[in-house]
Amino acid sequence: MTPPAVFTGWGSALPSTIVTNRDLEQRLDTSDAWIVERTGIRERHVGGTVADLATEAARNALEQAGTRPEDVDMLILATTTPDETVPHTSSIVHHRLGLGGGAMDVNGACAGFVYALVAAYGSLAVGARRVLVVGADCLSRITDWDDRSTAVIFADGAAAVLIEATGGADPLHGGPGLLSHDLGIDGSAHDLLYCPHGGTLAMDGREIFRRAVRATVESATMALSRAKVAVEEIALFVPHQANLRIIEASCARLGIPPQRTAVVLDRTGNTSAASIPLALCDALGTERIADGDLLLLSGFGAGMSWASAVVRWAS
Ligand code: UT7
Repeated sequence: MTPPAVFTGWGSALPSTIVTNRDLEQRLDTSDAWIVERTGIRERHVGGTVADLATEAARNALEQAGTRPEDVDMLILATTTPDETVPHTSSIVHHRLGLGGGAMDVNGACAGFVYALVAAYGSLAVGARRVLVVGADCLSRITDWDDRSTAVIFADGAAAVLIEATGGADPLHGGPGLLSHDLGIDGSAHDLLYCPHGGTLAMDGREIFRRAVRATVESATMALSRAKVAVEEIALFVPHQANLRIIEASCARLGIPPQRTAVVLDRTGNTSAASIPLALCDALGTERIADGDLLLLSGFGAGMSWASAVVRWAS
C-alpha cells in the first residue's frame, strides 16, 4: 500500500504553433472530414523540445502548488522522444528548475505517464515527500510529414503534476492517493509501432487499434477490481488520447458514459506520454474534478505496453 498523497499542483504546456486538419489537407492526400471521422482530431500543436515543454509544464505545477523547487525530492519525466540519447532529458529539466533530489526518465511510450505516476507513489512509499511527474513528448520530430497514416495523428505537448505525501487514512480506507494499478506489456508485438535511431515512426494502425481497445478494457477492469471499485463509482475516466474511436469503444465496453470521460485529443492530437496528464489538466481547468473523486487513468501504446491506475483525487 502506498501512503496517502495529494496533488498540490498541476500544469501543462503546448507549443504555440497550431496545425489544423485544413493545413494538412494542403500538403497531404487527406481531408478534414476523414481525419475527424476516423480519429476525432481537429488540430494539434507542434514545435519546441521535450526539455522546454516539460520545464514549462513543471514550472506551472510548482507555481500553482506554491512549492519551492528545492523542496522537490524526485522528478520523473515520462517521454518516448528524449531530446538526446544521453543524457536523460529530466537532467536538463531538473537543472533549469533548480529542483532538489533526483531525476529520471521513464520510457513507457503512451503508457509512460501512468508508469511514471506509479513509480512516483513508490517513491513516496520509500520516503520521498514531493514528487514531480511530467509527461512530455515531441512526436513531430520523429514523424514523416509526407506519410498521411501517421502525420495526421502525432503531435507535441507536456503536462505535469506535483504529488505530496500527507497524513491520515490510506487510499484503500478513504484517504487520497493510489488505490490500485495494473502495468503490463506484450513485447512480442514491439514491431507494430517503432522508430529506429534517426528515422521516423512506422505503425500498423489497424492492428494497434484492435489491441488498444482490448488492452485498455482489460487493464482498466483489472485496476478497478484490485481497487474494489465499481465502474459506476469512477467520477472521471482519463484515457490515452490516441483516437476518439478507441476511447469510445473502450468506454462502451467498460460502461463509462462520455460525460465521465476526459477528451482533449480534438485539440492536441496524440501526444503520447503527455496525453493523459494533458487530459487531466484540461478536466481540472474546467472543474470536472473535485476532492474525493475517484479517477481511472489508462494508457496504451508502443511496446506494446499498457498501464492503468485508480486514484482518489485530493488537492
Ligand atoms: O498512441 C498509440 C499508438 N497509436 C494508435 O493508437 C493508433 C491506432 N490506430 C488508429 O488510430 C487508426 O488505425 C488510424 C487513424 C491510424 C487509421 O484509421 P483506420 O480507420 O484504421 O484506417 P485504415 O488504416 O484502415 O485505412 C482505411 C483507408 C485506407 O484506404 P483504402 O485502403 O481503404 O483505400 C487508407 O489508405 O483510409 C486510408 N487512409 C487515409 N485516408 C485519408 C489512411 N490514412 C488516411 C488519411 N487520410 N490520413
